Amino acid sequence: MTLAPGAGQPSRMKLLVVGSGGREHALAWKLKQSPLVREVLAAPGNPGIAEIGRCVAVKAEDVDGLVALAKAEGVGLVVVGPEAALAAGLADALAAAGIACFGPSKAAAELEASKAFTKDFCQRHGIPTAAYRVFDDAVTAKAYLGEREAPFVVKADGLAAGKGVIIAQTRREADAAVDEILFLKKFGSAGQRIVIEEFLPGEEASFFALCDGETAVAFGAAQDHKRAYDGDKGPNTGGMGAYSPAPIVTPAIERQVMEEIILPTVRGLAAEGRPFRGVLFAGLMISPNGPKLIEFNVRFGDPECQTLMRRLTSDLAPLLLACAEGRLSAADAPTFGPGPCATIVMAAQGYPDTPLTGSVIRGVKEAAAAPGVAVFHAGTRADDDGALRAAGGRVLNVTATGPTLAEAVDRAYAGVDRIDWPGGFCRRDIGWRALSA
Ligand code: AMP
Ligand code: GLY
Repeated sequence: MTLAPGAGQPSRMKLLVVGSGGREHALAWKLKQSPLVREVLAAPGNPGIAEIGRCVAVKAEDVDGLVALAKAEGVGLVVVGPEAALAAGLADALAAAGIACFGPSKAAAELEASKAFTKDFCQRHGIPTAAYRVFDDAVTAKAYLGEREAPFVVKADGLAAGKGVIIAQTRREADAAVDEILFLKKFGSAGQRIVIEEFLPGEEASFFALCDGETAVAFGAAQDHKRAYDGDKGPNTGGMGAYSPAPIVTPAIERQVMEEIILPTVRGLAAEGRPFRGVLFAGLMISPNGPKLIEFNVRFGDPECQTLMRRLTSDLAPLLLACAEGRLSAADAPTFGPGPCATIVMAAQGYPDTPLTGSVIRGVKEAAAAPGVAVFHAGTRADDDGALRAAGGRVLNVTATGPTLAEAVDRAYAGVDRIDWPGGFCRRDIGWRALSA
């Protein structure tokens, strides 16, 4: 379906958002505001999305089911949240059915699905990243560790839900990490091979670019908080909170990232016959020697996406459609409001190891009514008794915008404090790095 905004009355279309987290709620929330969108469907969605769109019980990894749904509903654009369906070929199957998809093909999704592929790709195209070697054998891997100095960075090659990275301070820990990945299969089949790489010092940022297969435009940056508890302590998680913009990503750094990392990647993938359509998420280390790539993801970050959606002033639907249809250079560049946004993740007690689900959550409406606040659902379920209950690890995202980051953070916590949920917890120091700078 091609839309010609401005050319008479453009037909309004149905969109399908794939996924069920806070990222997908934020995407659905933003897309629903588009004058081009008639209805937002979500598969499988969540109770928050159900308030603004129609949720259909098809799983986010069920490629055949999603294609059948998009066909049956006459969907004009599928917007894919999580990487699993992309790695399984959802974009390819939709393309075969003639349905526009925001999200890369299986071949382009290798950028996230295989660290070894990405490291080799970066080397071929001169993209700045940590020096590395790939191993499938523990003896050679350990011999290589013997030639290097701490800290050691040991990674499982494949998709490991963001957990397949061990930063070891001693040789002993590094050797143990090699054994855990290759022999004990701590990360399952993601650990057939391991990558050992140079430790990069610096500050991390999440950088986003929209891509249409040939070109790319910057789409903002954010900073996440990966550890579970205050003070960056505790186990690694999918992300406990984020803010955007990221002060460390200055306009000069943004230009450098586009020129040295994003555009060479998009052109390199096109030249290798794997054009990338969707959002490229570069996990960066802003080192004293400039930005370096830690990893690519082929989707929006969660919870970074929530902060971007709150700040975006452009209509999202035509931008995503332009990516899917290879027309990005003709589209208006995305614009963001000047006010920062902070997102606080509320997680179920026990997250990330064994989150306790089923606890009752009250006060979400009250929180959403607080100044500057919007609440996105990440892992909730609405039961027949009318109660909202925790149904996942990360459960709610309380977002707020404000004139300054400090005010955005205060507003977000004011929202959090209206939520009555003894079964949950959150970090109380989201934004500390930017606020203390
Ligand atoms: P990844 O799953 O590749 O994003 O890695 C998880 C986390 O490990 C990153 O967010 C960084 O904090 C850290 N990390 C990964 N690779 C490196 C590296 N080469 N140097 C320093 N820290 C790293
Ligand atoms: N928040 C980091 C990620 O989505 O991978």
